[in-house]
Amino acid sequence: MQNTDNAKDVIVGVVGLGLMGSSIIASFLIAGHQVIAVAPLPQDLPEAYQRIYKQLVHGDHSGLLSKPIDSYISQVIISDDYSLLQNCGLVMECVIENIEIKESVFNKIACAVSKDAIIASNTSAIPISTLQKLVPNPKRFLGIHWAEPAYMTRFLEVTCGEDTDIAYAEWVVELAGLWGKEPTLLKKDIRGFITNRLMYAVYREGLALVENGDVTMEDADKAFRYDAGSWMTLMGIFRRMDFLGLQDSLVAWNAIYPKLSNSETVPGVMQEMVDKQARGIHNQKGLYPYTAEEAEQWEKAYTQFNEDIFKLAAQYPSPVTEVK
Ligand SMILES: NC(=O)c1ccc[n+]([C@@H]2O[C@H](COP(=O)([O-])OP(=O)(O)OC[C@H]3O[C@@H](n4cnc5c(N)ncnc54)[C@H](O)[C@@H]3O)[C@@H](O)[C@H]2O)c1
Repeated sequence: MQNTDNAKDVIVGVVGLGLMGSSIIASFLIAGHQVIAVAPLPQDLPEAYQRIYKQLVHGDHSGLLSKPIDSYISQVIISDDYSLLQNCGLVMECVIENIEIKESVFNKIACAVSKDAIIASNTSAIPISTLQKLVPNPKRFLGIHWAEPAYMTRFLEVTCGEDTDIAYAEWVVELAGLWGKEPTLLKKDIRGFITNRLMYAVYREGLALVENGDVTMEDADKAFRYDAGSWMTLMGIFRRMDFLGLQDSLVAWNAIYPKLSNSETVPGVMQEMVDKQARGIHNQKGLYPYTAEEAEQWEKAYTQFNEDIFKLAAQYPSPVTEVK
């Protein structure tokens, strides 16, 4: 079993150098790992260095780097040669959400790595128990679900498939401390993992309220931003319930629970969005209308807000010991 005494010495591999792959590489480099970055498509290679460099520049502007950027970027080897993964203790698969493509990538990773290596997927929605059937050593396969930007969010979801040896998942959880994460460990592979399960419950209720004409999207967003948005990062769900007082909440539960949507069908508006090839602010076709300028402003605001909330949350560690 690997230990985490010399966690920085673990060489990590990342396969897939798109949005998340490049951001995860930046996170590993900032944590002090040597990284082998594999481009699964040769056409990814020319831009890969710039992509990773850009993430590090952003990390630098956000105060996350303690050394010059060059000393981080010098620790990554970028290639389309899978055999360079041979000394990696952990390899992160980060290719598009397509099971056949992931399978072909796992085959190439499995041929390259030692039998002691852990292979992990950043899948958002494919069950880990399904993916681990595609590798020769399923005990050493698990999900590591990152959020974007990977080097500036505390979120990390570690998920075991039904054949994963929990000891390897616990090893990743320990290692994640070095990456500046507050990891969750899901021992049972539930569909949607933790975060998507919670968020889809909210999406279902929000869409039902709008579809029934009970509230506008604008008001639902406003309520979510200024109520939940003002306590979520500090308390999560259950501590918030403790904070509100549990006796009072029982009255509200009895009244509201039977009224909540338990629809099992996806609202029609989501099919309409797919038919319109709507990608939201990314192509200015979404639930709201956007001009190009508005979409750009939202992108900028999101980047800045991530930076601000990352720093703000650091002032309120869990458990809260001393509020600065
Ligand atoms: N974008 C997010 O915010 C986010 C968050 C959590 C998890 N994820 C998951 O991370 C994974 C990667 O997502 P992303 O947003 O980085 O996607 P992306 O489109 O930015 O990058 C995808 C990568 O897949 C590779 N790829 C595309 N076609 C391929 C093929 N035929 N064969 C081999 N490789 C191919 C590309 O070269 C690219 O490196 C997905 O499983 C996604 O669900 C994404």
